This record gives sequence, structure tokens and C-alpha cells, in this order.
Amino acid sequence: MLRDALRDARHVCVLTGAGVSAESGVPTFRDAQQGLWAKYDPHQLATPEGFLDNPPLVWRWYRWRRELVSQVEPNPGHHALAKLQELVPRLTLVTQNVDGLHQRAGSNDVIEFHGNLFVNRCFAEGCVIDKDDDATVPTCPGCGSHVRPGVVWFGEAIPEAALNESFATAADCDLFLSVGTSSLVFPAAGLVDVARDAGAVTVEINLEPTEHADTFDYALAGKSGELLPELINSLAI
Ligand code: OAD
Repeated sequence: MLRDALRDARHVCVLTGAGVSAESGVPTFRDAQQGLWAKYDPHQLATPEGFLDNPPLVWRWYRWRRELVSQVEPNPGHHALAKLQELVPRLTLVTQNVDGLHQRAGSNDVIEFHGNLFVNRCFAEGCVIDKDDDATVPTCPGCGSHVRPGVVWFGEAIPEAALNESFATAADCDLFLSVGTSSLVFPAAGLVDVARDAGAVTVEINLEPTEHADTFDYALAGKSGELLPELINSLAI
């Protein structure tokens, strides 16, 4: 039974995606009507080439996302995962989300696989720039290059530390929980394979079964803001 597997787990690895923040009011990427990539062009807004083509457009779009995320709150799914870290010997949370909502809910040591929306970086050198948002695109005080949001764009490498720690965690965990992700974007989508090969019990929680659902030991369909609290409260009994 899933509850027993979770109760017996020594090291739980949780991978989250945009679905976990959907109930907070943050749009996902690939949902047919509301997903960001149904309305906006990812090549224009989420690639280095798109940024170089039109920095102000890309900068404004990320400012809009920052403002949106600043106005929402973590939901019961985020809070349940923060509580889970107190109920198991070890938990490592890897998130593809750039919204910081896990940290705001109280999760510690979150691995941000795709960066963070609120960090600014120099486009040329990648260094972090502590500069307030401007209406126009800020420039790096060191080299004069444009400042960009500190998220990972298509075609870019995952930050090395995040990549290494996430794959080491997947190889070490005995329970792998994938929540609110379409599992279509690699390398994050490959973490579950590493965990499975290492003998971990694998669990998917998603609004609807993903195309990989039948490769998991357990696949629960429903809202993460409902299923996670249910599962995690059952442990506390
Ligand atoms: P997607 O938009 O691809 O997938 C979100 C998943 O969440 C879908 O399978 C939905 O069915 C599910 N979902 C929606 N609402 C939910 C809810 N309330 N409870 C549970 N599940 C729900 O988002 P990601 O898998 O996170 O990358 O996308 C991965 C990456 O692609 C993102 O990090 C982003 C994007 O391009 C970059 O920006 C680099």
C-alpha cells in the first residue's frame, strides 16, 4: 500500500511541476486552454535567441509573471509537502517551478531545477545581479550586457549543482513522488527512471494520468492540493 511505502521510506525524492502551483492561480505550461504555451510562443519568450531578438518583450513578460506570482499564496499541496519533510527521515524536493512557492510554504533546501523567477542574471556572464526591476531592460553594472531572468530557457543547461544533486537524490531515494508535471521536459523527466532503476517505489500524482502513468507503481489522478494533504495526513495517524 502506498501509505505503508511512504511510512517506511528512508529517503523520499519529490519532483514537482507547474500543476502543484495551479491551485494557487499560477498557470501551467501545457494545459490545453489555460497553459502558458497555449497562449504564448515559447521560442520567443523562453529561449536565449528569443531574448536577443527582443529583450524588452521578454523582460516585460517575466515581470508580468513575477507580479502574478507575488500576488498568490502557497496552496494546501505546497503546505502538505512542507509537512512531509517532518514526517520522513529524509526528503529532497526538486522543483521545476520557478515561483518560490515551496519555500514560502516552509520547504527547506529546495532544489530549483529550472532556476528562479525572482533572480536576475547577466545575460553574458550569468552572474547574479542585485538590481531592482526597471520598466526597461536593466543592464549589468559590470559588463553592460542585458539583464535576464534567472530561469532556465529551452536549449540551456540545467545549473550544474541542481542537476548533480537531483540525479544523486533520485539514485539514492527509496520513494519517488512526481507531482503536477507532464513529465515531458528532460532532463527532469528522466529522474524517475534513475529512481526506478535504483529500486525506488514510484508514485505519480497528477490532475489526469500522464502518458507515463502506467510506468509508475502508483498513479493517483486528482488535484495535488487535495491528494497530497490526504496522503500526508494519513501518515500522521
Ligand atoms: P506542464 O504544464 O507541462 O504540466 C503540468 C501538469 O500538471 C499537467 O500534466 C497537468 O495535467 C497537471 N495539473 C494541472 N493542474 C493540476 C493540479 N491542480 N494538481 C495536479 N496536477 C495538475 O508543466 P511542467 O511539467 O512543470 O520549463 O513543465 C515542465 C517545464 O516545461 C517547466 O518547468 C517549464 C516548461 O517549459 C522551463 O521554463 C524551462
